[in-house]
Amino acid sequence: EAVSTPDGFVAAIDQGTTSTRCMIFGHDGRPVSSEQLEHRQIFPRAGWVEHDAEEIWRNTRRVVAAALASADLTPADVVACGVTNQRETTLIWDRTTGKPVHNAIVWQDTRTADLCRRLGGDAGDDRYRERTGLPLSTYFAGPKIRWLLDEVDGLADRAEAGDLCFGTMDTWVLWNMTGGSDGGLHITDVTNASRTMLMDIRTLQWDPDICAEMGVPQALLPEIRSSSDVYGHVRERGVLAGVPVSGILGDQQAATFGQACLSPGEAKNTYGTGNFLLLNTGTDPVFSEHGLLTTICYRIGDDAPVYALEGSIAVTGSLVQWLRDNLGIISSASQVEDLAAEVEDNGGVYFVPAFSGLFAPRWRPDARGVVVGLTRFADRRHLARAALEASAYQTREVIEAMQADSGVELEILKVDGGMVVNDLLMQFQSDILGVPVVRPVVNETTALGAAYAAGLAVGYWESEDEIRANWAEDRTWEPEMSTGRRDELFDGWDTAVGHSFDLA
Ligand code: G3P
Repeated sequence: EAVSTPDGFVAAIDQGTTSTRCMIFGHDGRPVSSEQLEHRQIFPRAGWVEHDAEEIWRNTRRVVAAALASADLTPADVVACGVTNQRETTLIWDRTTGKPVHNAIVWQDTRTADLCRRLGGDAGDDRYRERTGLPLSTYFAGPKIRWLLDEVDGLADRAEAGDLCFGTMDTWVLWNMTGGSDGGLHITDVTNASRTMLMDIRTLQWDPDICAEMGVPQALLPEIRSSSDVYGHVRERGVLAGVPVSGILGDQQAATFGQACLSPGEAKNTYGTGNFLLLNTGTDPVFSEHGLLTTICYRIGDDAPVYALEGSIAVTGSLVQWLRDNLGIISSASQVEDLAAEVEDNGGVYFVPAFSGLFAPRWRPDARGVVVGLTRFADRRHLARAALEASAYQTREVIEAMQADSGVELEILKVDGGMVVNDLLMQFQSDILGVPVVRPVVNETTALGAAYAAGLAVGYWESEDEIRANWAEDRTWEPEMSTGRRDELFDGWDTAVGHSFDLA
């Protein structure tokens, strides 16, 4: 009996750290269209990173229109739209005018280091871990909100009065799509809310005590909803008018969903501006003793929430951009592979890119980037190689922490994201881990995961089994390095990391 395929397509907006993308997918989970625009990275001083939220919204409208046009589609062909986003990046805007009160403070920004130390007090970094799953860190949104309320004139009073909205980028995009100051929805999903440090990870509600202690009025905060649910319809003309918006997932959770890591014990690693490894731990939260985060993986409709352990690495792909923009030793990111491949190994050079301090598993906001092991022999090729290898070493640190926390021995590593086209890096990753690394056919798993969440809510996909069935392997890298060499390199890395604390 022939199985009928539903008509139409599902769109996903991926509002990422460096660019905003719109992708449109068919029922087989294959893309029919993809358009992307970069936005400015604003560095007002060392350690600070900001985005212009109005630029991001303009780009969102443009990529949606372009993605429809390039596949010759109209909004009527789109049955649902999902939103996925860089997480933790913090924006406050005026509910009446729709104007941001300040640039968005990006997740990589370390301006809240002192504030976090004060909030920890005698209890230290783990003060909120039991309730939120997170260590106190500059990474998360709550302290960034507090910084804005303290530093921008008059903001605290306006927040108290309910005149302002806080949102991560999912919330900003959804609010604008659904009408903006003319009745836009002020909503986030459980995965994004779990990165604010303000949500109780078990009740999935804002924690009033933490909000009070962090000085964040609840009047600022969006409603927390499931990751797959019809929130409303697009009202903005030109941007999918009339289409239901029915999925929201933080980008790393979306990639986990798009990689079909839908059973406990399944994990993926995304190589973006940073690296983010998420392990599905099922419907009970697992609390880390080795420097990982406990986070919501996804929640579909009214089902029980699914939790994940996460290893977040702040700088991987953005180090390649840094080689391009700040050192000028390559002129495009893709050149890094060729340059690194000109030498047999790192020549003893290690590059620890602690540009935002170090995240998992060390959580040291005071760490700074270092290059160690230089000799007259070393040149830009070794630097390129060391930069790529840094992603692999940092990933191994996170995987060791994950195995220690969960007892799950990793048998393969599913990978996705921009850097997985880099053959040299993928081979080295497999070598340094000693396990096979597997890349799926659809490498844009972030947008795909958001599309799946949106499509499930409207019945375009009927069950998670269809997501599993759509997943297909493209390529596997097998480990080829001897154990002795693997350990020698990793020891060298560990020594290098020690030097990133020299100025602390
Ligand atoms: O937590 C930050 C993460 O969501 C950023 O992801 O892909 O925009 O670098 P990406």
